[in-house]
Amino acid sequence: MTGSETTEGHPRKGGLATLRGLVPFLAPYKRQFALAGVALLVAAGATLAIPYAFRQMIDLGFGAAGSRSVEHVDRYFLALFGVAVVLAVATAARHYLVSWLGERVTADIRNAVYRHVVTQSPQFFEITRSGEVLSRLTTDTTLIQAVVGTSISMAIRNVLLFAGGLALMFVTSVKLTSIIVVLLVVVILPIVAFGRRVRKLSRDSQDRIADASAMAGEILNAMPTVQAYTHEAIEADRFGTSVERAFATAVKRVRARSLLTVVAIVLVFGSIVFVLWMGAHAVIAGTMTGGELGQFILYAVLVAGAVGALAETMGEAQRAAGATERLLELMAVRSPIQSPENPLPLPPRASGGAALVLEDVSFHYPSRPQAPSLVHLSLVVQPGETVAVVGPSGAGKTTLFQLLLRFYDPQEGRISLDGVEIRSLALHGLRGAIGVVPQDTVIFAADAMENIRYGRVDATDDEVIAAARMAAAHEFIEKLPQGYRSFLGERGVRLSGGQRQRIAIARALLKNPPLLLLDEATSSLDAESERLVQGALEAAMAGRTTLVIAHRLATVKKADRILVLDEGRLVETGTHASLVAMGGIYANLAALQFHGAG
Ligand SMILES: Nc1ncnc2c1ncn2[C@@H]1O[C@H](COP(=O)(O)OP(=O)(O)O)[C@@H](O)[C@H]1O
Ligand SMILES: [Mg+2]
Repeated sequence: MTGSETTEGHPRKGGLATLRGLVPFLAPYKRQFALAGVALLVAAGATLAIPYAFRQMIDLGFGAAGSRSVEHVDRYFLALFGVAVVLAVATAARHYLVSWLGERVTADIRNAVYRHVVTQSPQFFEITRSGEVLSRLTTDTTLIQAVVGTSISMAIRNVLLFAGGLALMFVTSVKLTSIIVVLLVVVILPIVAFGRRVRKLSRDSQDRIADASAMAGEILNAMPTVQAYTHEAIEADRFGTSVERAFATAVKRVRARSLLTVVAIVLVFGSIVFVLWMGAHAVIAGTMTGGELGQFILYAVLVAGAVGALAETMGEAQRAAGATERLLELMAVRSPIQSPENPLPLPPRASGGAALVLEDVSFHYPSRPQAPSLVHLSLVVQPGETVAVVGPSGAGKTTLFQLLLRFYDPQEGRISLDGVEIRSLALHGLRGAIGVVPQDTVIFAADAMENIRYGRVDATDDEVIAAARMAAAHEFIEKLPQGYRSFLGERGVRLSGGQRQRIAIARALLKNPPLLLLDEATSSLDAESERLVQGALEAAMAGRTTLVIAHRLATVKKADRILVLDEGRLVETGTHASLVAMGGIYANLAALQFHGAG
């Protein structure tokens, strides 16, 4: 689900220094950076040479006509064209190299962040909305791409143009340059300040649009609920309000930008005309040649352009610094669940001893320190044993499974698998030894074959089909339009609840784990699929250690042992008959919940 408030307004807390965090991502590409630097220097040099060549062309090409030959004219024009060609090639090379770097570095960052995020424990996803991670992967990385891909080279280029242009202006005319510098400050600063406001407005309007689409995303995922409560019009209005807000912000931005255009053009052209006018007088007075004036004006335009571009670049760099900070924060999060440095191997199966031991385990979820979900739980499960876990909703049954999978570590006590404490096992070793059929089955947007193969990626088609047969899924899959190649829809929307569950069971069976955890759900099953799932579960449990959270009498009765959990405590254990005879919680549960069930 995408959160609706995921698009925080890009706080610009980190200064530009934060961008240093990008260095590890840039470091592998030193060669490309060096080449881009060379291209950049050449292009800046060629740009600065153009006004000079221009002046030569005017003064020597046109100015002193008669005294010069056609040859000279040709040479100057040719030189000008030559400079232009060098500029073109160097600019294209810089653009290519720098854009390549931007794309490459962004791709690396995306991969690194995603690779990091998928190793986080569930605790991380309790706090962080998936929508937020997505927005960091897309929006934040795009900002960084802009900086690496253009802003850095723009900045260097414009610093070079600014410094070089200004120096050459002074060489050309000290008096006019002094005037220009004053004008630059007077004209450019207000434009820059105004430009900043426009940028802020455009960021606002982007955020408004993101708000609207985040909201729409969430609602589209919940369409059946929306329609069942006949909230279509309400949701449409909510979206409409959001869109109108985005529109209003956009109009503000457009208005500001129009105003900026008027002011900028008038001021810039006014200054150019003013300096030209001063220059024209200087030319008439004979203190300056026409070519010098032309050269001077071109330098002035370059310098002014560089200042404007630098201001623009600064804004982008600042946004990228904010984005970098958020990405680095994300990368710095360490999952509290880590594989040990030197993991112990799982002993070979059937090496004797208990399959699973819990010793005095107490656990509360990190977000609920006051409410323990498991209290002093001790438990020994023998290899091949089937243990049913029953108890009222919220008793801690699913929590027990979460601890076995080491999604969380208990605050007290220890859990051992085949005699080895699970914290000493490699995380993948532990989870590889456990098959889970969760309460909420997850179906991926792929076909049936691939969905089952998720249990073991190197399984052959025949192995997948064998697992499906065992899970009583083969028959209905065959009847799908394209059999095993049928696309199951996003989140498996094209299947019934019972069918989804049988796919999940087939997936767990394909993994063929020594320890099977079944969080059995009955809510979505009709009598027929219940019978089929029951058969599938029995096939799944045969010959392996199984913990099954049971809601069905049939499952409970077949278990070797029944554990009754209540408020995180193990309150009763025994067989169906002995527990009913005890007349405790189980007897109550059995009378209510299992009434009439087979
Ligand atoms: N991620 C979580 N964060 C905080 N509390 C949780 C979380 N998951 C479950 N709980 C709480 O832990 C207790 C046990 O939940 P659970 O193990 O899911 O019960 P059930 O026996 O129905 O499977 C409940 O009080 C529940 O509210
Ligand atoms: Mg549960």
